[in-house]
Amino acid sequence: MSFKKKLAEKLNNTLDEGELSLLPRGFQTLGKIIIIKLNSKLFDKKDIIAQAYLDLLPKMRAVYLNMGRIVGTCREPENIEYIMGEDDPIVEHKEHDVIYRFNITKIMFSKGNINERKYLATLVKNGEIIVDMFAGIGYFSLPIAKHSGVERIYSIELNPESYKFFLENIKLNHLEKIIFPIKGDCKIEVVKLSESGIRADRVIMGVFPAPKDYIREALSLVKDKGTMFHYEGVVEKDNFFPLFEEFKEITLKEGYKCELNSHRFVKSYGPHLNHVVLDNFVFKI
Ligand SMILES: C[S@@+](CC[C@H](N)C(=O)[O-])C[C@H]1O[C@@H](n2cnc3c(N)ncnc32)[C@H](O)[C@@H]1O
Repeated sequence: MSFKKKLAEKLNNTLDEGELSLLPRGFQTLGKIIIIKLNSKLFDKKDIIAQAYLDLLPKMRAVYLNMGRIVGTCREPENIEYIMGEDDPIVEHKEHDVIYRFNITKIMFSKGNINERKYLATLVKNGEIIVDMFAGIGYFSLPIAKHSGVERIYSIELNPESYKFFLENIKLNHLEKIIFPIKGDCKIEVVKLSESGIRADRVIMGVFPAPKDYIREALSLVKDKGTMFHYEGVVEKDNFFPLFEEFKEITLKEGYKCELNSHRFVKSYGPHLNHVVLDNFVFKI
């Protein structure tokens, strides 16, 4: 039986037919917290709905209501509100053998990006040097450090709240010898890394809107034998070509060559829009 049906059965005596049909189909769990989205017509019933979730999922400790999107340069949740259970928004969420500790009301954790979080680590070869430009709480740096033979990851994060949890996560996962966290704007920090002689086998540019304005500085990390750039963006349907062209144009202007190694779908981002990643290999001409 689908979860929505179970929920509807549980609330059969408290909600009317119309309300039952508006119940959400899915939900997200982060650690032991359930996050739901509700049709606004059900807002005044949120308490009894939250109680039904807790009854059906007894291992969970609280229910929060997500009423917004992920916004701004720091990619923060707009409006996540406590409804019921233990009112503590800090979770330890385990995924792919990695623990992510963070505050769910202040920091995003997209369930749609799960495959990409797992997949990147499988591409990394032994001894690689990686720069993760938009590290967040360690979305990519932690699984790569845990599951690949990477030598070192320089991980840059601007938002103090994310950076604080990132430092905790490095410790929680015992990855202090592999991950070198840097607090700051990656546009400036990658140039500093480059000036100190660091070159990367792989650069992760995992944020969107596509970080076009950061490409020129990121190119300062290119190795003589070439560097792979994982460049994220949102495209119309599967038309990733303009996204590749914008990256390629800048690399050519800066005196590099760029080849599209592969590209993949991450998640749907609204009608006709998809979140994708391009694997762009860049080398000196
Ligand atoms: C939320 S992550 C992207 C999520 C990730 N793609 C995933 O799969 O879950 C993006 C991070 O980049 C950070 N950020 C934004 N601009 C930045 C900058 N100029 N320098 C460093 N970090 C930045 C944000 O604070 C945020 O934590």
